[in-house]
This record gives sequence, structure tokens and C-alpha cells, in this order.
Amino acid sequence: MTARSISSCSAMAKKRVAVLISGRGSNMAALIEAAKAPDYPAEIVLVLSNKPDAGGLDTARSNGIATAVVDHKTYGKDRAAFDRAMQEVLLAHRIDLVCLAGFMRLLTPEFVGLWTGRMLNIHPALLPAFKGLDTHKRALDAGATIHGATVHFVVPEMDAGPIIMQDAVSVRPDDTEAALAARVLTVEHRIYPAALKLVAEDRVRVVDGNCFIDGTRVPDASALTPAT
Ligand code: GRF
Repeated sequence: MTARSISSCSAMAKKRVAVLISGRGSNMAALIEAAKAPDYPAEIVLVLSNKPDAGGLDTARSNGIATAVVDHKTYGKDRAAFDRAMQEVLLAHRIDLVCLAGFMRLLTPEFVGLWTGRMLNIHPALLPAFKGLDTHKRALDAGATIHGATVHFVVPEMDAGPIIMQDAVSVRPDDTEAALAARVLTVEHRIYPAALKLVAEDRVRVVDGNCFIDGTRVPDASALTPAT
């Protein structure tokens, strides 16, 4: 192999991604679809669920992607043992990047620390607003006029890591929780593959808790104009 072919091989090496799910896996499906593009810089090589009956597992299998289940119930309250079991699976599949996509377990700081800068999450709100659950209901109850979704790096504190990408939707006067959730979900399906692409291309740097993409700081959510 010549020096030139070695360097072009390493430039083309796709990042090996595991998607962690607990449910239907529509964000996982969006990542799988995006990764089918020949020039996408990452491949989804594993879908890991903490629930044996997660709907997304079937979608993964039908796309020919390896699946694994680490059932949290097996570990009772021993979160560290559950996380260690997941780490073993991730190592066995030589995973570079982890995408949490509706993964409904709290992770230990030790596990999160093993994946600093290499584990992403999608959250259905414009962080730092509406951390936690029931984001759409809370946005409606609060009279928010703008809502959206966020992809961020995972840190030990929930929904608090450096923000890689966000996009917004308008909240309509007649919105129901379901209608708003559906509009936000279309944003999620767009920004998660886009954010993973940037990370896999090594274009995202974290400085003092803020992400910079190609050297430019990711703007606050307040700078966003709703697409819909
Ligand atoms: C998404 O809204 C995601 O933002 C949140 O959980 C939901 C998972 O949905 N973390 P899906 O399983 O990706 O369809």
C-alpha cells in the first residue's frame, strides 16, 4: 500500500456508531437512513436496547444491523453493573460514537466519563429550557411560542451537555401536545443525523462547555427562527 492510499483509506474510515434505544426508535431509524448515504461519515453498526421488546429492535434487524439487549431489570438497582454490561457490548463491537435515542435510563457518571465527547443525545426541547420529561406539555403550559429539539454531548448531569445543534418550531395557538410533538419529531429526525455527521467528521470542538463547529460557536437557542 502506498503512503497516498493509506492516507485516503484513513480519511474515509467511517466512525462505528451504536444507537441506544428503549422504545420505537424513530430517531434511530433516521440515523440508519442517513448513514446509508455512501458519503456519510458514520455507520450504524449496533442498536442496543435496555428493553427486550423495544420496537426499534425490529427496525434495526430488518436493516441488517446487529442488535443487543442489556435488560436493566436483570441488574435491579445496581446501575454500575448495568453500565458495565453495556460497556462490554460497546467494546466488543469496537464502537467509536454512541447516540442515545430515546434511551430511558440514567447513566452513571463513570460510564458517561468513558464516553466524554463521544456520546450524543437528542432532547425534544430547546435546551436549556425544559430539561427532563413531558417537554411538549410543559412548553404548552408555559405558553412558549417557540419550541424545538436539541442534540448535545452527554455529561453526567441530565440534559446539560454542550449543545451541538438545535432547531425550532413555532408553537401554534391551537396546538395539542401530540401535534406539537409530531412537529418537533420531524426536527429531531433532521438534526440528529446532521449533528452526528459533524461529530463523525471531527468538526466539533468543546471549549468551556460550548461547542464550536469549524471554529464557530454554536449560537444560543434565542438566535433561532422557527422553520415551521
Ligand atoms: C424522542 O422525542 C427523543 O427526543 C426523546 O425520546 C423520544 C424517542 O423517540 N429523547 P424515538 O424512540 O426516537 O421515536
